Amino acid sequence: MKDIFTKALIVLKLLIFSALVAAKEGWDFLVFAQQWPPAVCATQKKQKCVIPEGVDGWTIHGLWPTDKKGYPTFCNNSWPFEPSSIQPIIDALKLKWPNLFSKTSEYSFWKHEWKKHGTCAASDDQLKGELKYFGKSIELRDEYNLYALLQKVGFFPCKDKPFVLKYVENALTLQLNKKIKIACTHEKAYQYPLLTSINVCIDKNFDLIDCEDKLVQSCNSSFITYLPYPDEKELTECGCMLM
Ligand SMILES: *[C@@H]1O[C@H](CO)[C@@H](O)[C@H](O)[C@H]1NC(C)=O
Ligand SMILES: *[C@@H]1O[C@H](CO)[C@@H](O)[C@H](O)[C@H]1NC(C)=O
Repeated sequence: MKDIFTKALIVLKLLIFSALVAAKEGWDFLVFAQQWPPAVCATQKKQKCVIPEGVDGWTIHGLWPTDKKGYPTFCNNSWPFEPSSIQPIIDALKLKWPNLFSKTSEYSFWKHEWKKHGTCAASDDQLKGELKYFGKSIELRDEYNLYALLQKVGFFPCKDKPFVLKYVENALTLQLNKKIKIACTHEKAYQYPLLTSINVCIDKNFDLIDCEDKLVQSCNSSFITYLPYPDEKELTECGCMLM
């Protein structure tokens, strides 16, 4: 009797364990996060932050498998990042997904993103492996070129005049026809929050979907600053969307 009970308990434990494993690897959609290097470096205190030569525009932060409850991470620890696998696209990655922390190795950002998010994305055949995962991300960066989208409606980086957050959000939402997520960082040296990252949400067919409201939104001000690159000549017209 006791024996059957023990066996039943073991089976139950196994069932719970496999359910947990399945839950850990499951995901419904992808968050594609891009960052604005001038703002990332302006607010970075812990690490030396340098924008590599040749880098301009918005750069990739990551492509993150997500579901309603959150996002799975580190799904396959036996799949280490293999630098040789991304050699065919290394030039594009250096420009579009650069590591801004100059004291860390060139590959460390990609390695981190692969282990934390890429190994979870790999459960989808279209993202299985480093080359597919990073290659798809580069494609998405070209498809959702935020600099171009913002420029098209008159938003140019501008140090001294802020933009109305709602205008920036509406301009992107109208062009993409889906809800996006904007995030800021707060830095004492600047009066307004700095526009730091913009996320779009993508389904498993790689079509754009609405980002859910609860995904982080951290621009707690009506105005935001879209900081120019350090060497960028500011346009005299910049910031003209200030009411
Ligand atoms: C984990 O990674 C290893 C090494 O690439 C691979 O052989 C294995 O199929 C992966 N496991 C899962 C569940 O994807
Ligand atoms: C906005 O959030 C930042 C960081 O959380 C905080 O330091 C700042 O005081 C907040 N500003 C307002 C206007 O709530």
